[in-house]
Amino acid sequence: MMSAWQVLARLKSVALMGAATALLTGCGGGGGSTTPPVTTPQAATPALSVSTGAYTTLQSVAITDSTSGATIYYTTNGSVPTTSSAAYTAPIPVATTTTIEALAVANGYTNSSVTSATYTINLPAAPAITPITDIHQGFIYQIVTDRFFDGDPTNDNPSESPGLYDSNGFANPANADWNLYWGGDLAGIQQKLSYLQSMGVAGIWISPPMSNIRVNAGTSNGETGYHGYWTRDFTQIDEHFGDDSNSWTAFDNLVTAAHADGIRVYVDFPANDTNPLDAGEYGSLYNNGTLITTYTTDTGTTPYYHHNPNITNYEDRYQVQYYTLESLADLDQTNPWVDSYLKTAVTNLMAHGVDGFRFDAVMETNWGWEYSLENTIANWSGPSSLSRMPGQPFIFGEWDEGSGDTLYPDSVKFSNNSGMNLLDYTLYWQLTDVFGKDGSFYDIDNELTLEDKGSTTIPAQGFAQPNDLVTFFDNHDNPRIMSQGADRMAVKQAISFLLTCRGVPVVYYGDEQYLYNDTNNGGVPYNRNGMTSFGSTDATLLIQYLAALRAANPAVAYGTMMQRWINNDVYIYERQLGANVVLVAINKNPSTDQAISGLFTDLAPGSYSDYLAQTMGGLGITVTGTVGGNNPVTNFTLPHRSVSIWVSSGSVPPSIGSVTPRVANSGAAVTISGTGFGATPGTVNFTVGTTTLAAAVTNWSNGQITVTVPALAAGAATVTVIQGTATSNAAPFTVNTATLIPVNFSVSNTPTLASTDVIMLTGNVAELGSGATTWNSAIGPVTIPIAGSALQTVSVPAGATVQFYFFVLHSDGSITAESAAHSYNVPPTGVGATAVSW
Ligand code: NOJ
Ligand code: CA
Repeated sequence: MMSAWQVLARLKSVALMGAATALLTGCGGGGGSTTPPVTTPQAATPALSVSTGAYTTLQSVAITDSTSGATIYYTTNGSVPTTSSAAYTAPIPVATTTTIEALAVANGYTNSSVTSATYTINLPAAPAITPITDIHQGFIYQIVTDRFFDGDPTNDNPSESPGLYDSNGFANPANADWNLYWGGDLAGIQQKLSYLQSMGVAGIWISPPMSNIRVNAGTSNGETGYHGYWTRDFTQIDEHFGDDSNSWTAFDNLVTAAHADGIRVYVDFPANDTNPLDAGEYGSLYNNGTLITTYTTDTGTTPYYHHNPNITNYEDRYQVQYYTLESLADLDQTNPWVDSYLKTAVTNLMAHGVDGFRFDAVMETNWGWEYSLENTIANWSGPSSLSRMPGQPFIFGEWDEGSGDTLYPDSVKFSNNSGMNLLDYTLYWQLTDVFGKDGSFYDIDNELTLEDKGSTTIPAQGFAQPNDLVTFFDNHDNPRIMSQGADRMAVKQAISFLLTCRGVPVVYYGDEQYLYNDTNNGGVPYNRNGMTSFGSTDATLLIQYLAALRAANPAVAYGTMMQRWINNDVYIYERQLGANVVLVAINKNPSTDQAISGLFTDLAPGSYSDYLAQTMGGLGITVTGTVGGNNPVTNFTLPHRSVSIWVSSGSVPPSIGSVTPRVANSGAAVTISGTGFGATPGTVNFTVGTTTLAAAVTNWSNGQITVTVPALAAGAATVTVIQGTATSNAAPFTVNTATLIPVNFSVSNTPTLASTDVIMLTGNVAELGSGATTWNSAIGPVTIPIAGSALQTVSVPAGATVQFYFFVLHSDGSITAESAAHSYNVPPTGVGATAVSW
């Protein structure tokens, strides 16, 4: 038996020999004999699958350890790994210069020595981004102005609204109040345009720049309009974003500078509401600095606001349009003053050169009124001195629902018929599921099929122009996917998908810098982070690659989208426009490479290298044989956590990708974007029914034509481009009867409804459905303010005499109609109303 002293001495000597720890065991035995000490073995040093060195492609580093049952801990930040470091589970993607250090720990073993390797990554520069003429060929970058960059400290704490600013914001966000202003402004965006331009940003969507309430609407915490959605005056620029006199100088400077850099400007416009009705300025509404009303003093016979409770049922057509959204004073867009005021504010922004709008809360705004808003924009022709970017204004609205929601079919109908493009919120939910929470790619694939092709089980049509949907995976209203579980590689895979999917993509500011903050699970306001870095990252490089691809290959901007191979973790899909083919393969599995067999493509036979030059761990493929657009790809293995893109391009006959606007009057200017139109003018035809008329051409290039809509009867139309003997696809279009103004059609004494019945409206002009009585062609389902009545705003031709009637549409498609039609003389301007009894 060793004495305590001997044990201690032996321990000391073991320690001196350099072992990390040692234990003595097996001290038994008798007869005075000495049992040799047993030294605990040391776990084997982990092995890294990639050696230290310089690389030009993304590396995937696996770590193994020969000690059975060992857990490997590792770091990538230069610190020595401990058992508190990240435990290794799957190969680590290395996209930037990184040192990996690893340690193995196993039961019955002392900890291993630390191994380390440094990977110097020099990814190849992205291809140059060629100039574009249309937003579909690029992507939009969404900015919360207050959180982007402080380009003008003089407006941080303006004299008109002092005390709403927290100087900790950008510098020390942990100590900042995230509901106060942080100092970002329009000048700041202007100063960072070259950062945006270098990434290939084609347009910026800026948070509402108009004047917000000037006081704190909070009690204990700050509550300010830093986000821009608490407007008090739609005609002035907020003092925090511009200057103390609420002038347009900073705004105009930004628009001019952005256009000079080839960047379009889309302004967020909240037409639904003003500001909190129960705090702050209590729904104050100003016109060019003059107070018009507040929510509490809005007691006239034609109120500016609806005075209803907060929306509780977002599937009720009446509630969403006429109730209050989150205590924000809810404008009545059919009040004639409000109608004119909002439309004047919108055209004023166009006169300041904006290239389009993101309309806030279009589901909660009066849907029928929004048709006349679109018509106002489509009819507007600004001063010829205006330096807008090429093309008519592109507009998109926020309809925040999923495709399983009751009002999803209404959203498709609304977008198709009004010409208001929508943010693709229904796809958004699937993108966050797949890239944020490692959901199945089938969720995305099924959603795309539903949205683009429509459904036979619900009255949802397909979207008329899926490439006009505005796609995104992060925004200012939801936690960034990094707060939902995505790591950097998942963010880059989401970016890769977004920028190659059909639709116009929006990248939320800061995603390319991996910004996120998990406070409140990353929800508002912690998703509105201050931009702290404007440097190059592997994500900015990826965006450059994808922007170059979008700009160069019209299949991405305008082509079809088709699934070619799928499982939960692998999605291979193809964009195609004639000989332009882009095949994208994503494997998001953390550790399993996927054998791919039975893959077919429209790519012609040949070898294709990865367009991303392996910067996302991809590989090349070989296509053999020609089987009519189903050409076999030689079997290959798709690496885990990789993205590969294979591309071909070629000339195509005239192909229309987008018509902007999609709904307009005869005489309105319309931009047709696509490819293959030819350098010299051909013909653009508009067809309604059996009548085809050629449009007057005002501008013609291979990718973009501007025409004037010919004098056609109103209704569903098609547009074709003819060049030589070739005729393009027929793109859908709608011709309006005349300038549209909103009219409230109401009816009392309606029949008792079965739970599956809806009330619809039809009439003798195209805008009232041309007498049709189907769900998709008539107006409705209309709103039901109280049982026994119905109310629907419809934008109808100004000055026309219209005949109309309401009817009950039963679930089997049969109808119960009013016994006779009513007649109504639509006023020549303003708004109208007609109330009838059933
Ligand atoms: C939707 C906007 O995106 C959100 O940020 C805002 O708070 C609400 N509309 C109300 O304006
Ligand atoms: Ca500032």
